[in-house]
Amino acid sequence: MTDSDDILKHIEFLARALKAPRIRDAVERLGDQARADGWSHEQYLAAVLDREVSARDASGGLLRIKAAGFPTRKTIEDFTFDHQPSLKRDQIAHLTQGAYLSSAQNIVLLGPPGTGKTHLATGLGIKAAQAGHRVLFATAVEWVARLQAAHQQGRLAAELVKLRRFGLIIVDEVGYIPFEQDAANLFFQLVSSRYEHASLILTSNLPFARWGDVFGDQVVAAAMIDRIVHHADVITLKGSSYRLRNTGIDTLPSTRAENTTQ
Ligand SMILES: Nc1ncnc2c1ncn2[C@@H]1O[C@H](COP(=O)(O)OP(=O)(O)OP(=O)(O)O)[C@@H](O)[C@H]1O
Ligand SMILES: [Mg+2]
Repeated sequence: MTDSDDILKHIEFLARALKAPRIRDAVERLGDQARADGWSHEQYLAAVLDREVSARDASGGLLRIKAAGFPTRKTIEDFTFDHQPSLKRDQIAHLTQGAYLSSAQNIVLLGPPGTGKTHLATGLGIKAAQAGHRVLFATAVEWVARLQAAHQQGRLAAELVKLRRFGLIIVDEVGYIPFEQDAANLFFQLVSSRYEHASLILTSNLPFARWGDVFGDQVVAAAMIDRIVHHADVITLKGSSYRLRNTGIDTLPSTRAENTTQ
């Protein structure tokens, strides 16, 4: 056995002890490359550690994506921007970089059914998870049920504190199902506890002017919208449903102008 075999065995042992298996895999291959390209010792060490760190980030991203509870794994890359010509691509590209998360800003996606609100919210959520943020996705109805359960068990405040540890909470489908007044109050508390602390992405088929009806209380709705949009990108999607694009059906009852954001 040569010295270099001994050294590789020792590195293998050390990598196992560090629970960093990718170091063992990278060491020999990068060693050859380092010798061929004349890397310094520091450059070589950085390259080896880099492999381990990016592999950990990627698997952390996957775990966070799983934990987020997305209904589908639709990505921004899967989104056909040509179907939404009024959507500003550079605005979406900027949002995918995630600066809004560091400044606790929100995103509101408005538009009729099938125009890609859930798709974009999920795609942005996946990017956030990959960038290291904890994300939770649920519909407005599911959020209210979760808050109601916490409230009934007398742990609403603790639940809101816990939720603030998530850099991004996605609330899908605000507006399809109207809330009872107590539900509206709970939802207000969620919005208010995240205000200027952590981000929200909301999607709705209704313009803000109709949110009062959904929440059964114009005053609560106004105070909530005020907090949501104070630091937010409000993006309005338009047009007919992508779901119907090859069906020959071009209007749905809910796409009438008086009912929706269109
Ligand atoms: N521009 C697009 N490019 C690619 N796929 C799209 C696009 N718009 C919508 N889709 C697809 O069409 C389907 C419906 O989109 P999505 O669920 O995002 O609509 P939505 O706006 O959330 O509708 P709803 O209000 O009914 O929930 C999804 O499968 C989504 O991936
Ligand atoms: Mg949707």
